[in-house]
Amino acid sequence: MTDTIRSDAFVFFGATGDLAYKKIFPALQGMIRRGHLDVPIIGVAKQGWGIEQLRDRIRASLTEHGGGVDERAFTKLSERLAYVDGDYNDLETFRQLSRKLGDAKHPVHYLAIPPSLFPVVVQNLAASGSAKGARVIIEKPFGRDLASARQLNRTLHEVFDESAIFRIDHYLGKEAVQNLVVFRFANTFLEPVWNRNYIESIQITMAESFGVQGRGSFYEEAGAIRDVVQNHLLSVVGFLAMEPPATTYNESIRDELVKVFRQIAPLDVNNIVRGQFDGYQREPGVKPGSNVETFAAMRLDIDSWRWADVPFFIRAGKCMPVTETEVMVDFKRPPITKLARGTDNYVRLRLTPDLKIALGARVKRPGDEMVGEPTELSLLEQPKGDEVGAYERLLGEAIDGDPALFSRQDAVEAAWKVVEPALDLEKAVEPYSRGSWGPAACDLMTRDVGGWLSSQPLR
Ligand code: BG6
Repeated sequence: MTDTIRSDAFVFFGATGDLAYKKIFPALQGMIRRGHLDVPIIGVAKQGWGIEQLRDRIRASLTEHGGGVDERAFTKLSERLAYVDGDYNDLETFRQLSRKLGDAKHPVHYLAIPPSLFPVVVQNLAASGSAKGARVIIEKPFGRDLASARQLNRTLHEVFDESAIFRIDHYLGKEAVQNLVVFRFANTFLEPVWNRNYIESIQITMAESFGVQGRGSFYEEAGAIRDVVQNHLLSVVGFLAMEPPATTYNESIRDELVKVFRQIAPLDVNNIVRGQFDGYQREPGVKPGSNVETFAAMRLDIDSWRWADVPFFIRAGKCMPVTETEVMVDFKRPPITKLARGTDNYVRLRLTPDLKIALGARVKRPGDEMVGEPTELSLLEQPKGDEVGAYERLLGEAIDGDPALFSRQDAVEAAWKVVEPALDLEKAVEPYSRGSWGPAACDLMTRDVGGWLSSQPLR
């Protein structure tokens, strides 16, 4: 199918699951509210449910995660909704789906299910004729490592052409992440200094104050590096580090992203700290003695002209003091230390939960002495409001057939090559207390560049 064909049915597998509950139903309500979704919606799951139970579940999801039920949108959603209950291993489930699809010629199938089920679902979609002219959306993790990512890709390609495969890394759909490219390149006060000549280090912190929230068995298979570093946080690095994308063709952002990933040296195990919050091993689904990391901090080096000798630091963890993803771009010091002492020439880019951009600068402290003091100039504070959410945007783009905001397989593979040395390390994870910033060893990592800046008060 060509890129310009709009999908004429939206099918989602995993209709009774966690992802549908937290993200998909709210996104569908948002799309309907904005008039962006006018096709049949078919949920598939194996739960022994009927459509009424699915409707109840949708109501609960919208109440909890969708900012409340919008009755008009909900009525429309209900009218378009169909449900197929059945085993994914049973071809009959897919025959039922095919009957529900009726005249639809270009459905989009969203696999919001564990990756281990992808092969059987994809094969049964093909066997039932429902894959013809269709698109497929899959969720990360795209494999567990490079080899399994390639295997997954072969499985998908047996049935779907690359142009019909949409891999979701929802960070690519976030307003604040997309803004990184605009903010960097559209501002003359920044664009010329965004390189090794002026930047000391770049730090990305993804802190979450909650734990694994009942996803213990998923997390046991993943850990922080697979869960958020290989995908979300490398995408953020990509947007921060990429060369200006050409505006003349659609693939340019994805081309620039993959170029960055290929220039990142595979992680050095000596530059990684892995931690586990106290009590993780008592979570349901977690194995006693588990060595899975719920926190990871690392240093990346990008082997490019622009970024030579500029360390990129990443830390991501559960049970941190706050929930916030933030980038700190720290600039080099001017030479007159008395005027410029301290760590305060930076750009702060908060990506979640709200969007914030601020400049750290130094101004003269009032008084007789000619000394500077830190101040922070807020350029933008945009509370989490009624913006188009990442899932809403991405599902809309997949229905429209525009792949620009989805992960391309070459980028997925390049990202696995970066993190692979850090996967499943035998060295024991370091424990940390809930509500702390992770193991103490993590602070040593950034000692030479003034510490982790996100969590510091102005000095
Ligand atoms: C998901 C991870 O992909 O992203 C979760 O599996 C994480 O562990 C979530 O909490 C964070 O997404 P957001 O959009 O809330 O920052």
